[in-house]
Amino acid sequence: MIWFLLLFSLTLGAVSPSDERVVKLQRGNCPMFWYSFNGRCYKYVSTRLTWADAALQCLSQRASLVSIHSLEEQNFVKSLIKNFDHGEGPTWIGLNDRVDDKWMWSDGAPLNFTLWYAEQPKPAGGYCAQINYGDDLKWKHQPCGYSYAYVCASRIDCPL
Ligand SMILES: *[C@@H]1O[C@H](CO)[C@@H](O)[C@H](O)[C@H]1NC(C)=O
Repeated sequence: MIWFLLLFSLTLGAVSPSDERVVKLQRGNCPMFWYSFNGRCYKYVSTRLTWADAALQCLSQRASLVSIHSLEEQNFVKSLIKNFDHGEGPTWIGLNDRVDDKWMWSDGAPLNFTLWYAEQPKPAGGYCAQINYGDDLKWKHQPCGYSYAYVCASRIDCPL
């Protein structure tokens, strides 16, 4: 298994030798199809759903839409998406302003890191955030009814 992961990592690295930010994907202690980063498990799902349906799908797997708390985590999530979607298309993350006119993560984690493509949008209700917008693959608010791929993440202690 370790050899398989190593080969897999090498293959990943070879996909884009020019992109130094590519992070090696490792399953670690995560279940099949989930990948480990800093003690949490993450899964990319290519099925396009509205933000609310994507959030429900994550919940049904005892996880949430991903929350992102650092540039390292941002780069990990980007690499995870790129591994399955070379086009790096728009993908839902857990940030939304659906409640109380505030940007919030659906897993309840504090909003202590943001990477909007422009200024942080004023909460207007009914917006959700995608990753992979523009050349820098940053975050952009979109109507929550749009259908995108999505990334789920487990809670810290990985209870899957
Ligand atoms: C932001 O919040 C997350 C989740 O609680 C935590 O793990 C992380 O250390 C925090 N980061 C900063 C920079 O405070």
